[in-house]
Amino acid sequence: MQRELVIEFARVTEAAAINASKWIGRLEKNSADGAAVEAMRQMFDTIDISGTVVIGEGEMDEAPMLYIGEKVGLGGEEVDIAVDPLEGTNLTAKNQPGAIAVMAVAEKGGLLHAPDMYMDKIIVGKKAKGAIDINKSVEENFDNVRRALGKAAHEMTVVLLDRERHEHIKQAIKALGGRVRLITDGDVSPALTASLKEGDLILGIGGAPEGVLAAACVKCLGGDMQGKLIAENDEQIRRAREMGHDDINEVLTLDKLVSGEDVMFVATGVTTGDVLRGIEKSGDFIKTHSVVLRSKTETVRFLETAYKVRQK
Ligand code: FBP
Repeated sequence: MQRELVIEFARVTEAAAINASKWIGRLEKNSADGAAVEAMRQMFDTIDISGTVVIGEGEMDEAPMLYIGEKVGLGGEEVDIAVDPLEGTNLTAKNQPGAIAVMAVAEKGGLLHAPDMYMDKIIVGKKAKGAIDINKSVEENFDNVRRALGKAAHEMTVVLLDRERHEHIKQAIKALGGRVRLITDGDVSPALTASLKEGDLILGIGGAPEGVLAAACVKCLGGDMQGKLIAENDEQIRRAREMGHDDINEVLTLDKLVSGEDVMFVATGVTTGDVLRGIEKSGDFIKTHSVVLRSKTETVRFLETAYKVRQK
């Protein structure tokens, strides 16, 4: 992929984040999501790529824009695209930290086609690469990662979504003497935080599409991740099979989640989080803060952009 595309992709998430920001704190998560989707979709059509959405807003019949299989771009290099125009719809609606607009791009076939269902995930940063096994217990993974990081138990922070389904993980970490960091929503951002800031181990069940986006981020930063689809009913099993997942219990290693060698991950803050500041207004300008990652070079590029507000 041409590296100049980095800036073009940043424009896409910046547009989504700016449009979504109009809905910050207005308790209307669907409107916020719709605004992000619309802006992202429009911006794609200014880029010289032949993109196919492989992770998007849903199936063609349920999502008018950025649906799975939709072609985007003006034409050019063939790439597969995973998008979440607004990751953290609730965070935006409630004006809470950590909402982002996010996308990942890889060469054709480079991103797993994940059905819209849950995925069990385990993620670590670069230093603990190779120390995780999703089929092992929380205790074993905690200990193996702790050793890899050369930390004491009380120095370990495990990040997870604050959900009832994760009660056993919370209790296990407590018994082990570790710390938890409970997040209310948005389990893509911790993948970024794990390598760039704090967060030693990310555990638990969240969305499968978000899992592929997190995997793209992890791949770019040299970390490690495994996932496992969680089917809640026969319809989900059927859907997963249709997308090529014959064995629902298969361990999805990082290379299966993101098999591409040339991967880019781009995120723009909507509300201020651990790594990215949110949309800020300053005089006649709107400021965006984005991060752009590239797997080939493991480059981490932070972009701060000021857009002049045009009076209509
Ligand atoms: P949305 O932004 O689409 O609302 O998703 C937020 C999110 O927290 C994801 O980050 C996470 O993977 C998923 O929802 C968790 O789902 P649930 O709220 O059902 O536990």
